[in-house]
Amino acid sequence: MTICLQLPQEVSLREYLDLAARRVEEALDQFLPEGGDDSPTPSRLAAAMRYSALAGGKRLRPVLCLMAAEACGGDPAAAMPAAAALELVHTYSLIHDDLPAMDDDDLRRGRPTCHKAFDEATAILAGDALLTLAFELVAAGVAPAPAAVRCVRLLAECAGHGGMVGGQMADLAAEERALDLRDEGSLSELEAIHRRKTGALLRAPLQMGAIIAAAPDSHVEALERYGRAVGLAFQIVDDLLDVEGDEVKLGKRVGKDHGLGKWTYPRFLGVDGSRRRARQLADEAVAAIAPLGPRGHRLRELAMALLERDR
Ligand code: IPE
Ligand code: IPE
Ligand code: MG
Ligand code: MG
Ligand code: MG
Repeated sequence: MTICLQLPQEVSLREYLDLAARRVEEALDQFLPEGGDDSPTPSRLAAAMRYSALAGGKRLRPVLCLMAAEACGGDPAAAMPAAAALELVHTYSLIHDDLPAMDDDDLRRGRPTCHKAFDEATAILAGDALLTLAFELVAAGVAPAPAAVRCVRLLAECAGHGGMVGGQMADLAAEERALDLRDEGSLSELEAIHRRKTGALLRAPLQMGAIIAAAPDSHVEALERYGRAVGLAFQIVDDLLDVEGDEVKLGKRVGKDHGLGKWTYPRFLGVDGSRRRARQLADEAVAAIAPLGPRGHRLRELAMALLERDR
């Protein structure tokens, strides 16, 4: 399969992000199964996978992967299978995060959650199928083979028990502890949760993009540091948006963390303190990629823009 990918450098960040997101959506559309009579994929499963993966969303993880490849002088088209894979893993994490056994949400990306539009069992299986398809895409679409192996390993580490899944488990445990009003938790415990549940899957795209562009280790490490800082800042802003965001713009419910008495950044640092911490992390991210020189300018712009996001 060929993907045409020209990302102009002279346009504004907004236009660049819109265009990159559209290209990612075209790729996802091609990679996702259709189902139907001639396909081994049951139609209902294919429909649920497509429903959640093609439902909009900012496409931040894939765009970070494309940007990182570009910032290392690589061809972003070569990073597209990995970029799409990251979005599939993220979408699976959202489907499962919204299930009644987890956050029990009915709205995602401006539409009913997968288990509301289909049913719980289908939503669980659609998540499982998106996760496995992601690894198929990286294995089949990343070249040369050693780069594919590094990307598979990195994605597994960031998505799995010590990354996103581990962070989700720790988040649930913290929710339990928050019910005990004598247990106040600590900012460092919260940071450890955020770094895994959200940070890991935002760091992976940067390292994967650099690996696919055959960047030197020093650039992979610079992007890893950028990813760690931006990843934590991103979940701090997610916590802030739960307090002051707009449900229509966000396409998901707000006020849920507060309702559950969850440990969040605003709870520990207040709204202004949380904003200051996010800003400090964005500055750290920008400083981390100084070794990339002028080619890192999109990533620098993005780190700052993510502080102002309203969706
Ligand atoms: C939402 O992620 C869940 C978190 C990890 C905070 P995004 O804010 O990237 O959601 P979409 O992909 O744009 O819907
Ligand atoms: C979930 O965090 C992050 C994931 C791994 C999906 P949240 O539960 O805060 O995400 P939202 O607010 O529902 O998008
Ligand atoms: Mg959650
Ligand atoms: Mg949630
Ligand atoms: Mg949230």
